[in-house]
Amino acid sequence: MSLPVLTLGTAATDFVSGLERLHGPVTVVRRCTELAEMLAAAQSGLARAAIVAGQTQALDGGVVERLHSAEVSVVALTDDDGERLRLDGLGIRTVAESVEPEALAALVAESAAQLQGLGAQAAGSGIPRLAGLADPARALQPRDADPVPPGLPAAQGQLVAVWGPAGAPGRTTVAVNLAAEYAAAGQRALLVDADTYGASVAAFLGLLDESAALAHACRMADQGVLDREAFERVCLKVAVTGTTLRVLTGITRVDRWTELRPAALATVLELARGVADVVVVDCGFSLEHDEELSFDSMAPRRNGATLRVLELADRVLAVGSADAVGLPRLVRALDELEHAVPSASAEVVLNKVRSAAVGARPEAQLREAWERFGPVREIRALLPADPTAADAALLGGSVLLESAPGSALRHAIAGLAGSQLPAPRRGLRRRALAKVKF
Ligand SMILES: Nc1ncnc2c1ncn2[C@@H]1O[C@H](COP(=O)(O)OP(=O)(O)OP(=O)(O)O)[C@@H](O)[C@H]1O
Ligand SMILES: [Mg+2]
Repeated sequence: MSLPVLTLGTAATDFVSGLERLHGPVTVVRRCTELAEMLAAAQSGLARAAIVAGQTQALDGGVVERLHSAEVSVVALTDDDGERLRLDGLGIRTVAESVEPEALAALVAESAAQLQGLGAQAAGSGIPRLAGLADPARALQPRDADPVPPGLPAAQGQLVAVWGPAGAPGRTTVAVNLAAEYAAAGQRALLVDADTYGASVAAFLGLLDESAALAHACRMADQGVLDREAFERVCLKVAVTGTTLRVLTGITRVDRWTELRPAALATVLELARGVADVVVVDCGFSLEHDEELSFDSMAPRRNGATLRVLELADRVLAVGSADAVGLPRLVRALDELEHAVPSASAEVVLNKVRSAAVGARPEAQLREAWERFGPVREIRALLPADPTAADAALLGGSVLLESAPGSALRHAIAGLAGSQLPAPRRGLRRRALAKVKF
């Protein structure tokens, strides 16, 4: 059976008569003049492959993901070396514009067969090929990282996801200060704000940032132009006690969440791991699958960014508020995490520990309460409520390490980074755990 194909670009129509003269193995079923037309035709199941010529700049990671999700492979015709390299990075087959019809048809057939093979493999393993788009038929499963474009360094650094339920339990406070502690301990640290509901790393660090560096990096990854140099350029550099903390700030408006496409974010994080010893990611709270929220199977996933970070993370810190609202919320959220990302093994961090919320001897009370809730996970850390230190850091746009270096809160977060600091003075710790009013 002849393979139905789409073409995009007026230049591509030059090849149609050549292909038609072959009477197979491919048949051009639609000549599209615009990208939107080609995507619509692909989505309607009309074709198994697309040939793009003259408009290859329209191809980016998002377009490829949409075409592949409709099981349409792509072949691009270009004589431009730079463009060929970019398209290679996106996993698109390229060929010279002077290609003979037989060779072009063979390449198109080969790319379609390869995509079909990948699809069969993914179906066999139960792993969705495209976690970036909602798929009502399948729940999101853990998956390996998206392929890293050629030329990028192999990943090495540790990826630490800081996550937790709604209610502002202190995810950003932990993420920012954890990254600062790693940097101060001499590690090459990178802090990433991937919260699609309330990015705030820039505000915590006092950065007058309108650049949404992470969205910028994702855009470049989508375009296939994110190499190590571009990555370094897009990172903001923040001085922390004589060392540098690199930062990818988050989206500046919540409606920009579509810019953090999971596949592009995965590429950015893989690259981040190649240039940093530790990458700390501040995540959004929601793990809800977007297909449960939307009937549009091609809709991007709002929570896809958080889910992808949790899938890729080497370490997940689950931060919850140490009070009557926060504790049960955290228990429920951990349950959701187990279903959404079974590969993630979360370390429980209870934050804002204070006797005013849970009674005298708050640490012992919380451990007892945690056992009563029945989770098998142990509490990894109890971080004291310390509004004085937390507010001073926020006011100064600085990290605890600088604004409140002797505080019990800073010491507890440094412990999460594995730093062995001298214990804070007893009085300080007692005061931090004492009755604190918010
Ligand atoms: N241990 C603490 N003691 C006192 N205040 C704290 C502590 N941890 C965090 N806070 C304060 O709680 C508020 C919320 O913290 P943060 O922004 O880190 O939470 P979040 O979980 O990231 O919230 P969001 O849902 O907005 O992302 C901030 O004002 C912060 O300074
Ligand atoms: Mg936050």
